[in-house]
Amino acid sequence: MHTLNKFTLSLLAFFATSAFAETTDNRQILSLTEPQRNHILTEMRELLAGTQDILGALAKDDMQAVATSARALGFEMKHQAENPLHEVLPKAFMQLGMPMHKEFDKIAADALALKDPKHTLQQLSTTMGKCTACHATYQIRPATASEQRLDEVAARGAHVMPFALDETTHVFSKIANGGIQQVIVKDKANTQQIKLIREHLSKIANEFKQGDFANSAKIHGGAMPGLAELKQAKQGDLQIDYQDLPDGAQITYATKQQKLLTAIHQWFDAQLSDHARHAMSGHSMH
Ligand code: HEC
Repeated sequence: MHTLNKFTLSLLAFFATSAFAETTDNRQILSLTEPQRNHILTEMRELLAGTQDILGALAKDDMQAVATSARALGFEMKHQAENPLHEVLPKAFMQLGMPMHKEFDKIAADALALKDPKHTLQQLSTTMGKCTACHATYQIRPATASEQRLDEVAARGAHVMPFALDETTHVFSKIANGGIQQVIVKDKANTQQIKLIREHLSKIANEFKQGDFANSAKIHGGAMPGLAELKQAKQGDLQIDYQDLPDGAQITYATKQQKLLTAIHQWFDAQLSDHARHAMSGHSMH
């Protein structure tokens, strides 16, 4: 009896917790900046407060107040709340929100015309199905600092690097006496991008040789690890060479000085993490 009880209890505990056992939130992610997230969640809390007002007014049979509260959640609210973000929010999200706002306008109109609380309750129940449907589909995640940084790097890179980040791959390989930086096309037939890669890499290789790393600083900021040491490297201590590759181009950095070697490797690591979406480390060449 004792063991059976224990077994039954643990079984109950299993069923009681299993409804909440999901550890990952698999809903579609809306990646928003802090102000965007705040904007949407403010609308959401107004939606909840508004439905509370409607229910309170219904309980008092105050159909005038029902109409006023419902109107506040209508199409006018959509213009203020969602339209400013329509570039950011997926179309499907906007299409879930729109009918909900329209229905609140209808709830307001019917409340005045029919003055039938039961009818309003039915409408409200249907409309709140739109709240739950959307909540079941989407979650908001604040765009992380690193995501925002990647976007910034890509945007600044677009001004400095003439080739298309999406059609090319950066490969940074740290080697025993320095490093090799390659940019190659994803599609070998993409001669247009190969040409742009070669032009750009040969140009910056020449600048780097003269201690001019302004181009790199423009994309990644002046505080990049290793950059200060590389800038100060004496002629002859840092060997920089440009080469064409069949599908792109490469720059090799070589040194015999430990301090500069560390600087090159740090600089490579920093570029790898900044270009994360478009770059990889050349492990095979270690
Ligand atoms: C078109 C999509 C959509 C509709 C429709 C919608 N919501 Fe939301 N709501 C969201 C999303 C997305 C979140 C954030 C959920 C998350 O990140 O987990 C949210 C969050 C909320 C929150 C939490 C606010 C906070 O401060 O954290 C409340 C409350 C809320 N919604 C109420 C409502 C109510 C009430 C309705 C219907 C009258 C509604 N929502 C309709 C998308 C929607």
